[in-house]
Amino acid sequence: MHVTDTTAILAIDQGTTSSRAIVFDRAGEVVCLAQEEFSQIYPRPGWVEHDPEVIWATVLSTTRSAIHAAERKGFQIACLGVTNQRETTLVWDRKTGRPVHNAIVWQDRRTAGTTARLEREGHGADVAARTGLVLDPYFSATKLAYILDTVDGARERAARGELCFGTVESFLIWRLTGGRVHVSDATNASRTSLYNLAEQDWDDNLLTLFDIPRALLPEIVDCAGRYGDSDAGLFGRSYPITGAAGDQQAAAIGQACLVPGEMKSTYGTGAFMLLNTGSRIVASQNRLLATTAWRLNGHSSYALEGSMLSAGASIQWLRDGLGIISHSREVEPLAANADPESEIYLVPGFTGLGAPHWDADARGLICGLTRGAGRAEIARAALDSVAYQTGDLLTAMAADGADVARLKVDGGMVVNDALMQRLADLCNTEVVRPVNAETTAWGAAFLAGLGAGLFSGLEDAAAVWRADRHFTPQMDSARRDTRVAGWRKAVERARL
Ligand code: G3P
Repeated sequence: MHVTDTTAILAIDQGTTSSRAIVFDRAGEVVCLAQEEFSQIYPRPGWVEHDPEVIWATVLSTTRSAIHAAERKGFQIACLGVTNQRETTLVWDRKTGRPVHNAIVWQDRRTAGTTARLEREGHGADVAARTGLVLDPYFSATKLAYILDTVDGARERAARGELCFGTVESFLIWRLTGGRVHVSDATNASRTSLYNLAEQDWDDNLLTLFDIPRALLPEIVDCAGRYGDSDAGLFGRSYPITGAAGDQQAAAIGQACLVPGEMKSTYGTGAFMLLNTGSRIVASQNRLLATTAWRLNGHSSYALEGSMLSAGASIQWLRDGLGIISHSREVEPLAANADPESEIYLVPGFTGLGAPHWDADARGLICGLTRGAGRAEIARAALDSVAYQTGDLLTAMAADGADVARLKVDGGMVVNDALMQRLADLCNTEVVRPVNAETTAWGAAFLAGLGAGLFSGLEDAAAVWRADRHFTPQMDSARRDTRVAGWRKAVERARL
C-alpha cells in the first residue's frame, strides 16, 4: 500500500444510542466525524430493543458523510475498522439478510428468569470457568435462545443453517460485504456466554446448555486482519475491512492499556472498567468478569472487567424521563448549584445492577430527599452515582488483587471536569483524562490500521497516547467514608 501523510482510516463506532463514523490520520488525529442518534425501543419495562434497519441506515449515512468530508479535505481512506455496543443480539436470514426480530440490546432484562433458573440448577461456576462471565441476561446467549424460541419456525430454520446470529460488528461486516462474510471478532465472541476463553472457540457444552445450534454462529476471527471488502455499491468504491473489536476493548487499545496492570474506564451509556491481565485469565472472586482484551495472530490477551449498566443513561433519564434538563451538557452547571451538604443518593438500577451485584431485579431509587432538595441535588446525585459505582468496581478489582495506581478515563462524560474531580474524590484515586477523547473509535481505527499493515504492532498505540489532565483526590477521608457508607445503604434498598 502507498502510504502518505494523507492516508487515513475510517472507524465505524456503532454504540447504544448513536452510530458514528470517524476518520483518523495515522497519528490518531480526528480528520472528520459524523454522528446520528437513534431511537430506543422499550416494548415493556426492563426490555430494550433496536431496529436493525435503523442501525444499518445510521451506519450507512454517517459512513458516507465521513468519507465525503475526508475526501474533501484531501485524505485517502485506506481501510475500515468496526467497533460496537457489545452483547446486543441479532438474528437474520442468511439469504435475504432480513432480521427476524429486533436487536435485543445488552441492557435488556427479559431473560432474567432463564439465567436465574440456570443459576439455581448450579451452572454458574461451570459457565464462569468456561466464559469468564456470570450468569446474567446481559450476555447474548439467552437473548439468542429467546429469539429462536419466540419467532415462528426460527429454531428449525437455525438448525438448517438458514439463519445467522451475530453481535453488532458481525451484522455490520455481513452487510458491508454484501452477505459474503459472516464473522465475529474474538472480543465480541467473548461476550456471548458461548465462547470458551481459554480455548478461544465456541464451546459445545455451552451450546448445549443454552440450546443454540452451531449452524447459525459466525466464524471467530482476530481483531486485525482482512475480513473482506465493503461492497463497491455502498460508498462508490470498496474498502478493505481490516479491524474489529467490542467498544470497551477498542477503548482499552485507544487508551494504550497495553501491559498488565494498566486500566481504563469508559463512560458511555454504561461504563466499563477494563484492567489488562496479559495472558492470564483471572477468575474473579468478586463478581467481575474475565474477557478477551484482543486477539492478534491467534493469540489472546485478557482483561478483568467491571461493568456498570447505567452511567450516561442516568443523565439521559434526567433529560428524557424527568425532563429537568433539555441537553446533557446542562447537567454540569445544574449540579454545581446543589447544596454541598445534601445527602441524596440516586441508584440507577433502571435495567438492574451490574458488577459487582449482578442483580437483574434491582430497580432505580432516589433516597435522602428533604424539602430543600430540587433539580440541582438530583442532578448531582445522578453524577455522583457514576463515581460511587466506579468506586465499587475499584474496590472489587483491588480485592481480586489488582494494584491500581491510576484510572485512565474516556467517553462522552469525561469532558465534565466537576465529575472527574468527584470521581477522584469519591474513589480516592488519581484520574487521568487523555487528550484524545475518541479512544473507542481510535482503538478500532488502530486495529484496522494494524490489519492493513499501516502499523507495525500494538506498541505503536502507546506512542500516540497523551494525558490531558490529572485529577487528584481532595476530599477528606471522613467525609468520603460517610458518603460511601450512605451509597452502600442506598444500593441495598434498591435491591428487591
Ligand atoms: O457492553 C455494553 C457496551 O459495549 C456498551 O457500550 O458505550 O454503548 O455504553 P456503550
